[in-house]
Amino acid sequence: MTIFNFYEKKKNKAKISMVTCYDYTSARILAQTTVDCLLVGDSVAMTMHGFKDTLSATLEMMCFHTAAVSRGAGNKFIVGDLPFLSYRKSWSKNVSAVAAIMQAGAHAVKLECASGNVHLIQHLTESGIPVMGHIGLTPQFIHVLGGYKIQGKTQESAARLKEEAASLQAAGCFALVLECIPTVLAKEITHLLSIPTIGIGAGPHTDGQVLVFQDLLGLNPDFKPKFVKQFMNGHEQFINGIEAYIHSVNQGVFPGDEHAYA
Ligand code: KIV
Repeated sequence: MTIFNFYEKKKNKAKISMVTCYDYTSARILAQTTVDCLLVGDSVAMTMHGFKDTLSATLEMMCFHTAAVSRGAGNKFIVGDLPFLSYRKSWSKNVSAVAAIMQAGAHAVKLECASGNVHLIQHLTESGIPVMGHIGLTPQFIHVLGGYKIQGKTQESAARLKEEAASLQAAGCFALVLECIPTVLAKEITHLLSIPTIGIGAGPHTDGQVLVFQDLLGLNPDFKPKFVKQFMNGHEQFINGIEAYIHSVNQGVFPGDEHAYA
C-alpha cells in the first residue's frame, strides 16, 4: 500500500481497512492479514501504558512503538501519530518531531485538527512526508471538547467540520480520519473530498474504517462504546489459554517428554 493506493481505493469504491498497532508481535500478526494500513496511534498511551487519556503519549513513546511495529510489519503501510503538542511548538521542534516518527519507521504521520496546522501540513507534504488528518472527536482536545462526545451534531459544528476537512485536503493531506461524528455528516464530508475518509464511530459511508486492535479483538471486555464491534472474544480466549497452561503445570502434565530435552 502506498498513498496512491489510498486514492485508487476511493476512486474504485473499495474500502480501506486500518487497525492500530503498537508492538512487534501484533505487527507480525497484522502483516499476515490483508489489512491495508497500521496506525501507531497515540491511543498507545491508554491501551499499552494504562494512562487515562492520550495526553500522556510522548514523542519518545511514539518513536519506541513505531520502531517496534516497523520491525514486524513487513510491507504494511505505517502511519505514526504525532503526540500531544509535539507539532504545536516552534517550527524546528515540530519538524524534528515529524522526522523522529518517520525515522522510527513510519511512512506517514497523523495529526489532529486543521486550525493552526495548515502551514505545517503544506511544509511536510512539500518535504516528502504524507500527512493523514484527523477531525471530529480529537482526543488530544479532550479538555476543550469537555469529554468524549459526538461532534458535529449542530448545523454550526457540522459546517465547521466540513470547512476543516476541505482545508486539510487543500493543505495536502492524503487521507482524513473522521472520529465520532453523525453518519450523515460523515457521508457528506466523504462526498465532498477527493481524498479518502477513514471513519471510527462515523458510520458506514466513509471510504474506510479504523478500529483499535484491542477493541476489535475483544481484549478489553469492559470497553464497549457503540462504535466498537468485538470480532472475537479475545479476553476469554486468552484467559482460557493461560488457565489451560496453569492447569497443566499444576497437574504435572506440562512439560511432557515432547517438551523436554532427553
Ligand atoms: O490513536 C488512535 O488510536 C487514533 C484512532 C482512534 C484513529 O487516533
